[in-house]
Amino acid sequence: MPKKNVGLIGCGTIGTHLALAIESRTIVNASLVGLFDGVDSNAKSLQSKLKSSPEVHPDFNSFIDSPADIIIEAASQEAVRKFGKPIIEASKDLMIMSVGALADATFLTELLDLAAVRKGRSKIYVPTGAIAGIDAIRSVKHLLDSITLTTTKSPKALAGAPFFATREVNLDIITKVTEIYEGPAAEAVKLFPANVNVAAVLSLAGVGADKTKVRVVVDPQATTNQHEIVAKGRFGDIKITVNNVTTPGNPKTSFLAVLSAIECLRSICNDALRVGS
Ligand SMILES: NC(=O)c1ccc[n+]([C@@H]2O[C@H](COP(=O)([O-])OP(=O)(O)OC[C@H]3O[C@@H](n4cnc5c(N)ncnc54)[C@H](O)[C@@H]3O)[C@@H](O)[C@H]2O)c1
Repeated sequence: MPKKNVGLIGCGTIGTHLALAIESRTIVNASLVGLFDGVDSNAKSLQSKLKSSPEVHPDFNSFIDSPADIIIEAASQEAVRKFGKPIIEASKDLMIMSVGALADATFLTELLDLAAVRKGRSKIYVPTGAIAGIDAIRSVKHLLDSITLTTTKSPKALAGAPFFATREVNLDIITKVTEIYEGPAAEAVKLFPANVNVAAVLSLAGVGADKTKVRVVVDPQATTNQHEIVAKGRFGDIKITVNNVTTPGNPKTSFLAVLSAIECLRSICNDALRVGS
């Protein structure tokens, strides 16, 4: 398998772990060639931690001209909306972490149409992120009657979400386990963009972002980020609960999401045999 040149958009929590995984050869057959971050100092700070010294690009135009074969987005939904299409147009593969951006059906169709026009020269990869069981949901998607994701997090993990700008919910005074939101994944990813990317992953695997239901629950005592998937249909039912420790320095990002990103890239770069994907 030829070695993959990797470019990274977003040099925060997930980006840093991915870069270090390439550097330590946890991911083999990959070379990190370019870094880009909206906050230049974040890219420079990551570069300083790496012996390989990938180039820091001051803007996207310079970044996209780098010799990367695959671009990893570990930045924000906005970054996917802004850079997704130009990456496909440049015939590069794209791995997306801010999957919430793909819950917008129009944007998703445009991105996939573009990839189709490029005649398979670009592939789009979506790691399973902070949840499990996506293989099973994909298998039963034609038989699903209902699918619900219940995400339970601490106030610290949910703080700052756009949801709180428009609703009268005060995280500081919640003292017991409280459901604060229920709605379709298409809406949930906009209200909680840094918390329920997994709802978009579930939607892509199953019945889409309008039919996938999301509940967000605040637990003041929570020490983990919990995602529970309940799916029902003619196949029977599936219930999967994942209790994720958070990533040091970022209570919003589950450590499983970091591990899933590393495993996805490792598999793309190195595996002739893919199990469960
Ligand atoms: N799929 C999943 O299960 C899952 C799980 C956790 C996090 N995420 C998502 O992955 C993304 C990265 O997560 P993280 O924990 O590394 O976040 P982070 O905040 O630690 O780092 C994000 C970095 O991206 C940069 N950035 C943001 N918007 C940008 C833009 N438009 N252009 C260039 N750079 C930009 C920031 O400056 C920052 O350095 C987030 O969108 C997060 O919501 C997905």
